[in-house]
Amino acid sequence: MLDRLDQQPPDALLALIKLHDADPRADKIDLGVGVYRTGQGATPVFGAIKAAEQRLVDEQDTKAYLGPEGDMGFVHALMPYVFGGEPTRAGRIDGMQTPGGTGAVRLALALAKRAGATRVLMGTPSWPNHAQIVKDLGLELVTFAHATDEGTANLAALKDALATAGDTDVVLLHGCCHNPTGIDYTLAQWDEIAALLAESAVLPVVDLAYQGLGEGMDEDAYGVRKVADAVPEALIAQSCDKNFGLYRDRVGALYVLANDGDELTRILSNGHALARAAWSMPPDHGAAAVRLVLNDPKLTEQWLDELQQMRARIRQVRATLAQAGQLGNVDLRPLAQQNGMFATLPLSKEQIDTLRRDHGIYMAGSGRINVAGLTMDNIPNFTAALAELAAETV
Ligand code: LMR
Repeated sequence: MLDRLDQQPPDALLALIKLHDADPRADKIDLGVGVYRTGQGATPVFGAIKAAEQRLVDEQDTKAYLGPEGDMGFVHALMPYVFGGEPTRAGRIDGMQTPGGTGAVRLALALAKRAGATRVLMGTPSWPNHAQIVKDLGLELVTFAHATDEGTANLAALKDALATAGDTDVVLLHGCCHNPTGIDYTLAQWDEIAALLAESAVLPVVDLAYQGLGEGMDEDAYGVRKVADAVPEALIAQSCDKNFGLYRDRVGALYVLANDGDELTRILSNGHALARAAWSMPPDHGAAAVRLVLNDPKLTEQWLDELQQMRARIRQVRATLAQAGQLGNVDLRPLAQQNGMFATLPLSKEQIDTLRRDHGIYMAGSGRINVAGLTMDNIPNFTAALAELAAETV
């Protein structure tokens, strides 16, 4: 039976990691998969996480099962960072732990499907795994343009998509640090989106995978909180893989906003059943470490400080790139206004291949770059390569 399966290509983004690792050039530049790097090109474990892990080693006295909801201490400690302290939503929100942000998005869409959803509206370009999850769940993907030609978020396109949608539709939004463009909705646009969603029967699913890497933990949650204030129901996919640097430990949470407490309990019982049938229980270690960080004011301060340093470095790289201005048809100036680790450059497949072959610069086939892969040392090489491309194209 299994020989009926066709060969599948490796995930393009993850395959880049191996290609880059195999390149012997000392000055190669990895702008591929979305992991943060320091000015020295490292992806270290957060000091606050190291301290929490040490505490786990010293004090954790069992690794016995928790249940499909995972570590609820973790889920509840993280919740105020996502939703703020807003009392009007009290009793209408709860969550469960998931394996990373992907697990949370997957569970959100599986829950929506169980509840009768048939279509997912999504701005493109988007993180490639979004479409893969939609397809794998047998839902129909309906796309609209995420960005305008001027490099701003295209609210009109979202409005048009919502205008023709109804109560079997989901809209999948990025809460902040849009992956892959870095182009976020403005605060005023979020106000409008929240008002639109309040009038619509469409279920909002917000992917908040990069909270804290844009403007700040609170600032980056503006859209999520606005939407949560306005709508009766929503699903929020959260990840600690980036903002706690726990990538391979797979630390995420799905938060459910429901009409009332009874509905919330019913929805979460479905979440638990789906999780049980998929991964049974989420991995514990990373979530336990995050819980310890968030329950200890000193470690929390240390974590927020480390996150602030990441953010400042990303902003510094963006500002430095922007100073390089226009190189051929690549205008780097808007990068200073965009958010998070990603930006998408208008490069052809041939140009992306040339950058890899001739300059050892690795980026996704979509032209997405991870700006955190750039340092003050390698930015000159990167912009020189772009300038050379531009000269070749004239
Ligand atoms: C990315 O977009 O590079 C990250 O979210 C990693 C991933 O899983 O794709």
